[in-house]
Amino acid sequence: MILTLCGFMGTGKSTVGRRLALETGFDFIDLDDYIERKTGRTVREIFSSEGECRFRELERDALREIIKKYAPENHSAGLVLALGGGTVTLPECARLIKEHTRCIYLECSKTTLVSRLAKAGGKRPLLAGKTDRELEEQIGNLMNEREHIYRSCADMTVRTDTENFREVVEQLCGLIRSCGI
Ligand code: S3P
Repeated sequence: MILTLCGFMGTGKSTVGRRLALETGFDFIDLDDYIERKTGRTVREIFSSEGECRFRELERDALREIIKKYAPENHSAGLVLALGGGTVTLPECARLIKEHTRCIYLECSKTTLVSRLAKAGGKRPLLAGKTDRELEEQIGNLMNEREHIYRSCADMTVRTDTENFREVVEQLCGLIRSCGI
């Protein structure tokens, strides 16, 4: 069983994912970390030396590998996989997520994200080096492009505007139980 967490940058996919894995006893993988370990380069370095398209291919390859490794016939443990904010934008990735995982969409308002990412957006190549105004515009544009894809991938949705991620994880555990997972 693979549970994937999708959603925009700053929605808490890695933090919630790690805690959810502890609660469920599942393994945990963060897709960005996995790619960084595999390539020996940071996401930022990959974006700047090879561009976004190459990064999306690396995301797709990593997703394929992880799904294969955790397929029920190959692995008995469950997995919580925190996706990158843009993983779903490659149609092949969206298809893999829908066909092979149960996907949880972490939904957050633009206002919350703008304030979180103004503080912590610097390491993210798509948001780096922007003025406050440009940051807000970029977040709005990307959210408009992506929101319908997150929704189309999701089996469950939780809001993560709150900083109380413990509450979010409790809510998720309830949802997961009610889905019989
Ligand atoms: C991206 C999100 C990032 C990372 C990369 C691109 C995106 O992951 O994969 O910077 O396109 O939204 P997080 O959502 O974990 O920040």
